[in-house]
Order: sequence, then structure tokens, then C-alpha cells
Amino acid sequence: MAFVTFAILFFLFTVISSFFLFKSAAESGRINLPLPPGTLGWPYIGETFQLYSQNPSVFFTSKVKKYGSIFKTHILGCRCVMVSSPAAAKLVLVTKSHLFKPTFPASKERMIGKQAIFFHQGDYHFKLRRLVLRAFTPESIKHMVSDIESIAVDALKSWENRLINTFQEMKIFTFNVALLSILGKDEVVNREDLKRCYYILEKGYNSMPINLPGTLFHKSMKARKELAQILAKILSGRREMNKDQHNDLLASFMEDKEGLTDEQIADNMIGVIFAARDTTASVLTWIIKYLAENPTVLQSVTEEQEAIKTLSWADTKKMPITSRVIQETLRVASILSFTFREAVQDVEFEGYLIPKGWKVLPLFRNIHHSADNFPDPEKFDPSRFQVAPKANTFMPFGSGIHSCPGNELAKLEILVLLHHLTTKYRWSVVGPQTEIQYAPFALPQNGLPIKLSLK
Ligand code: HEM
Repeated sequence: MAFVTFAILFFLFTVISSFFLFKSAAESGRINLPLPPGTLGWPYIGETFQLYSQNPSVFFTSKVKKYGSIFKTHILGCRCVMVSSPAAAKLVLVTKSHLFKPTFPASKERMIGKQAIFFHQGDYHFKLRRLVLRAFTPESIKHMVSDIESIAVDALKSWENRLINTFQEMKIFTFNVALLSILGKDEVVNREDLKRCYYILEKGYNSMPINLPGTLFHKSMKARKELAQILAKILSGRREMNKDQHNDLLASFMEDKEGLTDEQIADNMIGVIFAARDTTASVLTWIIKYLAENPTVLQSVTEEQEAIKTLSWADTKKMPITSRVIQETLRVASILSFTFREAVQDVEFEGYLIPKGWKVLPLFRNIHHSADNFPDPEKFDPSRFQVAPKANTFMPFGSGIHSCPGNELAKLEILVLLHHLTTKYRWSVVGPQTEIQYAPFALPQNGLPIKLSLK
């Protein structure tokens, strides 16, 4: 009974608030155009179940088939417009990016830190982006090759003759590389503490934001506090040292003339770990799977890698076959199926209205899996990248002012790990591998269990 009463009240609340929403829209002289085609589903719940009860590609593909490349829907209480044409993605992310701000759940902002780069537009974002980009240019990361190699060699050694969960092990590898890029070599002393806190923090990323003792969210917030304390200690240690000793991301953030506060620096260090770790680890996991399933491709990669004796930065720029395997994996796996923006004002697009406050989602996966852009799109075929893809059809690292500033580092660490893996080891996948998990990145079933041994 209580539930029915609640449902009725909730329904009335939704109807009344929708009335005010549309009334204020009309009063504000909103652009007089139709909304994109599509359905909004139930009040509040919308079409959340349809999206999350199955592989999201099925939901997106069936909508695109029915309504075309722009359609409306209603997910997790938000009215959304999804766009799946390269032109629309370009408009949202590049040409009209000032009309579409990044948007995240408030709980994520609290965990990573409000001052982190992803949550901002305008001058503050521009400044942070410059500081992050300069720490990750090819020139800035080329000296890291041998340190990344040591991390890769140690990781591979620790997997020898064991049944491992590839994704979990890759997360350790990418975490260590992220710390190296942010804090340099001499921070190994704090590595274990940082790792412990970060692992507790991440468990709360997708939890209900209820900050009461015992909840995942509460534990995460405590770990977040401890993480900030460790970072504050590292910052004060750095201030006592000679500044020229370091050329990592922290040094870039700490330059006096930039005037960032300790809180801003901590939020952005945590933000970069968040952006760098699971993304790169899932791509590596997919590469291991695709290479295992495609022995001729593995053979060509191995031959390319065996021709390199002592790995150098210059060598990493001369690996065309391995680089195409990375590109094709980024396309087929499309680990970030889409991204989120929010319209900051009413926007007119292709004869439709995208109302202010609505979420806008460019669907990367659909663009990467459209036969118009990539013939026989479900096939893993690295050779297709011998020819450059059409403009705006391949955006695994996003596009425009929020595109990934860490893409060069991601590619470098993947190449270094693949060099040592293919030249020294063989591996086999254990158990069935037909399912994909979305948590939230697309991942092979159970994180891809494998057995690895020396050749
Ligand atoms: C293969 C691995 C990676 C993939 C597929 C990836 C993908 C992306 C994408 C698609 C975006 C844009 C999101 C949007 O527009 O909403 C992005 C942003 C970002 N990525 Fe990556 N990323 C990867 C690795 C990394 C690494 C290694 C780092 C850091 C070292 C990094 C740092 C960032 C940051 C800081 C942003 C936010 C940029 C901004 O808001 O201006 N990413 N990434």
C-alpha cells in the first residue's frame, strides 16, 4: 500500500514538474522546433531498464535503426539526446563544444574532487589542460621508456605459470605507469599506500552516494581523505627540494606562476589516475584476447617486435603492424561506448531542438561499428588502418577540447608491454569468451582469465 501511495505521489510530482519544465520553456521563447524522434518511456525511470538489462549496443543499434542517427530517450532520470553520426559528434565535441558542457554524477565529483579537469569548461579548464598536455607530449614522455619497461618486465614475470585475471593484472601495470608519470621514479615509497587508498576509493565510484558509516560510499570518502593527506605530504616534500629535479605531471602542476592550490593539485592527480588506469587496462585486455584469437596477426606482431633488440623511443615510433593492432582494438572494443555532455542553452540541430539541460551523448561505439565508416565492422582486421579512416569516424580518444591528453602515454605503455609479451611469452585464454561485461568499460567476460608461460 505504502509503495502504491509513493508511486502515485511520485507520478504526480513528475507530471507537475514536467508541466513547469515545458511552461518555462515556452515562456523563455524557446526555439520553435520539434524534439528529435524517439520515446521517453516511463516517468523518471524512462528507458533505463531497456538500456541496462542487455548489451547497450543492442539498445543503441535498435534505436538508430528505428529513428535515425539522432534520437531522444530518458535514462536514470535524465532526458537525453543520443547522436551517432560523425557530423553530430563533431558538432557536440568540437564545433559547438561551448554549448555542451561535460557532466558527471555528483557522487563522482565528490570522489575524484570537484577541481579535477573533467568537470570544467572555460579558463580554468584551459589552464589545466595546458599543464596536463605539456607533461604528456612525446617530448616529455620519451625519457620514460626504460622505466615503463621495468614495470612491464616485473609485471610479466609475476604472471608466469599462473592463472591470472588479465584485467586485474593490467590495472596494476597501468596504475604503476600512471604513478610514474605523475610523481616520477622516487615516489615508489608511497606507492603501496596510494594504491591501497585508491583501491578503496574506486570501489565507491558506482555506489549509492549515502555517506553513513558502513556504506561503500563512506569508506570511499574516508580513503579519499587519506589519499589527499598522502598527496599533501608529497607536495610539501617536493617544496623542500630543488624544483629542476623533476619533469613529471606534479612538477607541471606545481610551477609557482600557475598558482594552483594544493586541493586543485590533489584533485587533478587523482583525476589523472582515474582517467589513465582502467581505460588503458581494458584496451590491453582486449588486445590480449584479439591476438590469441588471431594467430596470423600475432605472428606478424611478434616478427615486428623480434626485429627490435634494445627498445628505444625511436623504435616505438616504427611499429606499424603493432600500432594498427592497437587502432583496430580501440575501434572494435570501443571501451568508452559514449560520453556525456549537457546542453547549456537550447540548441538547434538538423531541424530539431536539443533543449537546455538535456544530456547529449555522442555514441562512439555506433560510429566505430557503422558499415558506412568501416566495412565489415564486426571483423577484427588491423590492415584496414593501412588507409586512414574518414574524418570524424574514429575517435577512441574523444575529440575537441576535452579529448584525451594522455593518448601518447597510453599508446607508449601498450607498445612497451606488447614488445616484452610477444617476444618472450605465449599465452592461452582459459574458459569461454563470448560475453562482454560493461562495468562501465566494455571488458571480456570475467576480465579474461589467461595462462602465460615463457616461450
Ligand atoms: C587507451 C587508453 C585511454 C583511452 C581509450 C582514453 C579515452 C579518453 C576519452 C574518450 C576522453 C574524452 C572524454 C570526453 O570527451 O568526455 C579522455 C579524456 C581524458 N583522458 Fe584519456 N584515455 C586513455 C588513457 C589516458 C591516460 C593514460 C591518461 C593520463 C595519463 C588520460 C587522461 C585523460 C584526461 C585527463 C582526460 C580529460 C581531458 C579533459 O577533460 O580536457 N587518458 N580519455
